[in-house]
Amino acid sequence: MEKIVIGGGKRLSGELKVHGSKNSALPILAAAVLTTKPCVIHNCPRLTDVDAAIRILTYLGCKVEREDHTVVVDASGMERSDIPDHLMREMRSSVVFLGPILARMGKASLSTPGGCEIGLRPIDLHLSAMRQFGVEIQEEHGRLECICPGQMNGAKIALSFPSVGATENIMLAAATAQGRTVLVNAAREPEISDLADFLNGCGARIHGAGEGTIVINGVKSLSATEHTVIPDRITAATYMTAAAVTHGHLTLRDIIPAHLGPVIPVMEEAGCDISICARDLTISAPPRLRRVHTVRTMPYPGFPTDAQAPVMAMTSIADGTSVIIENIFESRYKHVSELHRLGAHIKVEGRVAVVEGVPFLSGAPVVAPDLRGGSSLVIAGLSAHGTTEITGVRHIDRGYEKIEESLQNIGAQIKRVICDEPEDDF
Ligand code: UD1
Repeated sequence: MEKIVIGGGKRLSGELKVHGSKNSALPILAAAVLTTKPCVIHNCPRLTDVDAAIRILTYLGCKVEREDHTVVVDASGMERSDIPDHLMREMRSSVVFLGPILARMGKASLSTPGGCEIGLRPIDLHLSAMRQFGVEIQEEHGRLECICPGQMNGAKIALSFPSVGATENIMLAAATAQGRTVLVNAAREPEISDLADFLNGCGARIHGAGEGTIVINGVKSLSATEHTVIPDRITAATYMTAAAVTHGHLTLRDIIPAHLGPVIPVMEEAGCDISICARDLTISAPPRLRRVHTVRTMPYPGFPTDAQAPVMAMTSIADGTSVIIENIFESRYKHVSELHRLGAHIKVEGRVAVVEGVPFLSGAPVVAPDLRGGSSLVIAGLSAHGTTEITGVRHIDRGYEKIEESLQNIGAQIKRVICDEPEDDF
């Protein structure tokens, strides 16, 4: 088992390059099965979730080559349309393979995702959209057996909630469906536009990605493309909170500042000074952070739910009381009990968390409950007096590339160690 050990209280300063977006790379890797021509994907982050997506591609019969941050997917030899249970379990978001497998093979067999660390993750919106394309879906023995008797047909689909994954699955299925698909109340996250750019690079005809209505004119087939994944805005937001809690001065290189639009005002309200120069963002933190009035997680361009946990760690040492309202996932406060162990004062009532800032946290052994909850413990540990030991590191590795190396390079006292104790878990 591995753990991350942090000696808190070191001021962070310097520069950091943010890796490619996990949430862009995953649907783009899935999209590569739509074409029989090899696709080259640059800036693909080295994360365990990306490893899981590559294992699925390989199982399906695709040839995948990876060198550093470039992945080449050749799906010409794809022969399978099922994803076994153990691969589905490695990563809940593997449901994003449903649309592309169906589009390529006319059938798909996946296990049902069930619950996960941040609550139930239903896929009703994905399934209802696939049915509108003409797909027949049966649920048997914990698996979804999906078959499309003829060609998939474009459809007019209105989502009751702008689900990111459902929007991606719909775009992926519609790219080569017969006729036009009009998707209303689509998710507008930057990762949706990145996926559309990849697909359009392959010859798809997708308009309006990043807006509420997306129109997809199906094409007969897609060809090869070379694409560079956008920088990870959630990793960038997390490192901004790392600078904030350590009175730091940090420049994030080669990001897309507009993607941090919902996060920047929160950091400024906390007293941080932010300046942007082209694709670089510099954050300077004050000696004591101020409380943030209210943070509401919302679909983009609202405040991202994925940045809620690290921002909570930040507000836990701010001067005053902050309120956080989690509107996207029902059970996304598992990090709170661990932050309590570090001395934070946080009360949770349903979707609302009231964070009463304390002057300092004190290091303790804690367990990462999930990916972003784990990153909030790293942030808390960086600010805390004394040593913080975090187990459950595998959750953090799903979304942050070599987090300890990135933070060491900007002055943190942090290391990854192997230990014998059995892994604590939730
Ligand atoms: C994606 C991101 C995740 C982020 C989330 C919200 C990836 C790989 N993951 O997850 O990091 O936290 O967007 O920005 O991109 N819902 C339904 N039925 C459905 C689909 C979703 O009820 O069929 C609900 C979910 O339970 C949740 C909400 O809609 O409460 C948002 O989910 P969704 O936008 O689909 O998130 P994901 O695509 O799973």
